[in-house]
Amino acid sequence: MSLNAKLEVLSYDEAEAALRAPEDVSRSRTLVVFAGTDLAMSDRVKELLKEAQAQIGRAAAAAKFKGKSGSSLEILAPVGVLASRLLLIGVAAGNCDESDKPAKFDDYLSLGGQTASKLGQGAAAVVLFDLPEAPSEPAAAAAQFALGGWLRAYKFDQYKTKKKDEEKDGPVEIKLGVADAESAKSLVAEAGSTAEAVILARTLVNEPANVLSPTEFARRASELMKLGVEVEILDEKAMAELGMRALLGVGQGSDNESRLVVLRWNGGEAGAAPIAFVGKGVVFDTGGISIKPAASMEDMKGDMAGAAAVTGALYAIAARKAKANVVGVLGIVENMPGGKAQRPGDIVKSMSGQTIEVINTDAEGRLVLADALTYVIEKHKPVAIVDLATLTGAILVALGQEYAGLFSNDDELSERLTKAGTATGEKLWRFPMGPSYDRLIDSKFADMKNTGGRHGGSITAAQFLARFVGKTPWAHLDIAGTGMGSPASDINQSWGSGFGVRLLDRLVKDCYEG
Ligand code: BES
Ligand code: MN
Ligand code: ZN
Repeated sequence: MSLNAKLEVLSYDEAEAALRAPEDVSRSRTLVVFAGTDLAMSDRVKELLKEAQAQIGRAAAAAKFKGKSGSSLEILAPVGVLASRLLLIGVAAGNCDESDKPAKFDDYLSLGGQTASKLGQGAAAVVLFDLPEAPSEPAAAAAQFALGGWLRAYKFDQYKTKKKDEEKDGPVEIKLGVADAESAKSLVAEAGSTAEAVILARTLVNEPANVLSPTEFARRASELMKLGVEVEILDEKAMAELGMRALLGVGQGSDNESRLVVLRWNGGEAGAAPIAFVGKGVVFDTGGISIKPAASMEDMKGDMAGAAAVTGALYAIAARKAKANVVGVLGIVENMPGGKAQRPGDIVKSMSGQTIEVINTDAEGRLVLADALTYVIEKHKPVAIVDLATLTGAILVALGQEYAGLFSNDDELSERLTKAGTATGEKLWRFPMGPSYDRLIDSKFADMKNTGGRHGGSITAAQFLARFVGKTPWAHLDIAGTGMGSPASDINQSWGSGFGVRLLDRLVKDCYEG
């Protein structure tokens, strides 16, 4: 995973010294500074730009730039500084908040994204991270800023053979001047591996299914071995021996074999029970015999976003050598119609021993997760489980693309997840569960059926999963609306968002370490 920007952390003095070095004509330099209400700037920045003040004032007046957050001003050939371009990035909050600094900590993430979008590619830049109002934790703020920039700069374009000139220049080289360079260096390095982890998940989601088969997904996940993650891959024979007929039934219509991937990070106390993450990894969901309509079916290459998020999370956790035991399980299958495909009405026995009547072969995610959940409980006895899945279209009807659905049998775990998501900007909204919903999936012929009727589709899907987790604290995140087809934002321009990676990493950091 390579990041689209090279970033070096310097002290303010070093950054200003770099600015005094002659400019490389072939990679003209941009100086980035931050301005608040009515062009307020830090004393140091004011001093640095003293010869350009009049020019800045005229340019700002002409462009009606007032330093508002989300706006920026570009000045070419600024007077008195060795940079061909000066970029002022606005940091003043809106009307209801008069302060100059970004209102919340995660705004530094957006600020990084906004800055990266203005920098463009193929440039060299010096960023003086000296805000008109200093952040309370400058090193951590700088790391969030860098992370936002890296996430913004990600592009999935390896299948485009005709690139624009500016895209050929390679990654932008940034020198980031910060107040507390020594502490910022390690935090920015950690932000770099977090960015790589999110980007890994995004790329997995963006890859088409003719490239990302179940075996190819397993191969890519197994590269986490380089970070010290233990990787175990179960093939169809191994899964059949364990009785995973629910998962195998989904994959049986495809010529591509199914896989279960187990990723284990042992950074905590030896022998201590792990926290478990389980991901739905349907590399392509045609719906099977209950086939989907053609419109937008191509989006179903992203039906493995849950498994991608778990892979990314383990990358982040291992890269920063988290002091926690974490296990990730990916149920990876392709849901295809065909002569060998499972039919509506088929009854399968899951690894748990419970039988399932398959009413609709397009409700396949829960079948895959059922066996993955049983597997992780039996083999790893986790303290808690979080599963992530692009499980239902109904979650898009309920929440749109802003929030992921949260379903859980445990209030504490729900609160921890919601808190982690608020911190990272991956928002969750909890739904109700209970026996009256559970009854809707009772079957005439088997222990349960895999659909619960038209109403409350995301909830009955969660009730189905709940039948496989017993008393283990468990939460299910329905990310069908947030993991793919994502609207462009300050920190993401990609179809696959990588939703869940930072959330899970944060959950581990806040609640399962030390
Ligand atoms: N992968 C889909 C859910 C989905 C829909 C994800 C839209 C992303 C965007 C899932 O496997 C599915 O097909 N669910 C069905 C369930 C139904 C048959 C009970 C659905 O939501 O329609
Ligand atoms: Mn489906
Ligand atoms: Zn699906």
